[in-house]
Amino acid sequence: MSGRRKITIVGAGATGATAAHLLAARDYADIVLTDIKEGLPQGKALDLNQMGPVLGFEPNITGSNSYEETAGSDVVVITAGLPRSPGMSRDDLVQTNEKIVGSVTKQIVAQSPDCIIVILSNPLDAMCHVSKSVSGFPKERVFGQAGILDTARFRTFIAWETGASVRDVQALVLGGHGDQMVPVVSAATVGGVPLRKLVSEERIQSMVERTAKGGGEIVQLLGTSAWYAPGAAIAEMVDAILLDQKRVLPCTALLEGEYGIDGLYMGVPVKLGTGGIEEIVELDLSDDEREALDRSADAVRDVVGVLSN
Ligand code: 2OP
Repeated sequence: MSGRRKITIVGAGATGATAAHLLAARDYADIVLTDIKEGLPQGKALDLNQMGPVLGFEPNITGSNSYEETAGSDVVVITAGLPRSPGMSRDDLVQTNEKIVGSVTKQIVAQSPDCIIVILSNPLDAMCHVSKSVSGFPKERVFGQAGILDTARFRTFIAWETGASVRDVQALVLGGHGDQMVPVVSAATVGGVPLRKLVSEERIQSMVERTAKGGGEIVQLLGTSAWYAPGAAIAEMVDAILLDQKRVLPCTALLEGEYGIDGLYMGVPVKLGTGGIEEIVELDLSDDEREALDRSADAVRDVVGVLSN
């Protein structure tokens, strides 16, 4: 047994495997990749291990169809569930993925009662509710990933529009991970200069819209969901937790009064460290942004209302 930290990734599809790839190359943790499909996690784990000698990391990735190997995980990332196909909204997936995420959570918790759970399955906000309720974990240890991905899309479009480096584009997307998400234009800057000073309102609105529909744009092109940027977003969150980085990152957290919203998982900036969510950061929003966030909350509540539990 190794003395390194342990990450389990449930779902060895493209997103789970991309996250495993990026995290393995970081070289600070052992990784277990699980999936119900026989051979899939084992084959991907073997291939990922064989990347170690070339890229120069210590290969310790295990592929499994059962949960015993996941025992004692520090962080468990749940990507399991059906992905979107063309014409399907994230919300169409709710009932099927509720069963999958509920059953996965139960098995994970039995093996790793002290872990932190990061949800990626869609519809994301609703699946966080499912995992929170099945696990019985405190809200600090059950949360979701969408905001880093949505923000990365917005930052990409801003960089292209302004000809700047993506590294100098700061931005933030809040709200539910659906078409009502809220790219916060007042918080978007390029090298510290507010976006509104650089780009016309019309162009900004077109980037806002492309961001909100960013997942669907890729589903249209590929016939299935994105995986590179989602996988990278997971890796950034896992780093922040296991390396106790105290990063402030947009994540899907259970709100209990913050932003005037109660009892609902939504994307907001949080401080991430060893304890999971260590703080929810409250931003000053413009009136328009606050109204948009309320509309996004309504959309999330509608999906949560479809859950059987
Ligand atoms: C996305 O936005 C799959 O929800 C994911 O690409």
